Amino acid sequence: MKPNILVARAVFPQVLTLLEQHFEVTSNQDDVLWTPAQLIAKLQGKQGAFTTGSQRIDAELLATCPELKICANMAVGYNNFDLDAMTAAGVLATNTPDVLTETTADFGFALIMAAARRMAESEHFLRAGLWNSWRYDMFAGSDVHGSTLGILGMGRIGQAIAKRGAHGFGMKVIYHNRSRLDAATEAACGAAYVSKQDLLQQADHLILVLPYSPEAYHTIGAAELAQMKPTATLVNIARGGIVDDAALAAALRQGVIAAAGLDVYEGEPKVHPDLLALPNVVLTPHIASATMPTRLAMAQLAADNLIGYLVHGKALTPLNPQVVKT
Ligand code: DGY
Repeated sequence: MKPNILVARAVFPQVLTLLEQHFEVTSNQDDVLWTPAQLIAKLQGKQGAFTTGSQRIDAELLATCPELKICANMAVGYNNFDLDAMTAAGVLATNTPDVLTETTADFGFALIMAAARRMAESEHFLRAGLWNSWRYDMFAGSDVHGSTLGILGMGRIGQAIAKRGAHGFGMKVIYHNRSRLDAATEAACGAAYVSKQDLLQQADHLILVLPYSPEAYHTIGAAELAQMKPTATLVNIARGGIVDDAALAAALRQGVIAAAGLDVYEGEPKVHPDLLALPNVVLTPHIASATMPTRLAMAQLAADNLIGYLVHGKALTPLNPQVVKT
């Protein structure tokens, strides 16, 4: 008998077809956003779940789903998982590292460029029919090439951004991370390790790429923003909650920093109204990994994790491999 799985959000049809070859699949191609209670109901009798960042998997849910063996997240981030609770319940968690690194780094760089060069603000001006003539300082922003790029969080995506900055844009690249990279990796990235304070004070463009954890909550708030250059840009492609969005909006309004680019928000998909009202922030709806090839690769990897574990006993990218009995 085939194992039963739940695919909690709409997914590429070809990935669904692949899953159906191995599993009895309950899918959600209408992409209904289930409440936690509805998710629990749908998970009854399922051995596997294909999840995205919008399904919270915690102790309360796990207690009601005793047959569940694996949740395969179609995301590299997994702050929707209570990993300790999953481990305690013997439920394997998997994510989708590597396949989205370069695409997400491209987008981080695009947000740096868009914020520094005031692309969204100037486009809105043009579309509003306000462009009447050339002016020497019209939408004059700050340079990206040759400036100092600061990176907070130096995992795979941070390193890919560093390479773009150092080797493509001739930038001085500085970074701060929980642990320092080895010398060979630093050299390959063209990046130098600095304290968080030096990072804040020296960066012309600061990009956040650290994973979310409770300790990372409001890593950037009013005190940190006050240490940045008034000409600086801040970009967040990590997770909502790492930046205090209200403090950022105040800083952007008061000229504490010049501009920002955000792909993630506290309480998304809601966005702080003060941010929505500001011209000097570029706002995108959590799409840093959103190219068709990359999203397909993420979905395929999540599917391969389900097939690997439930059919062959081995997942490709486990987060808590200790639950697998050898
Ligand atoms: C991730 O992979 O963590 C992204 O944020 C989801 O697209």
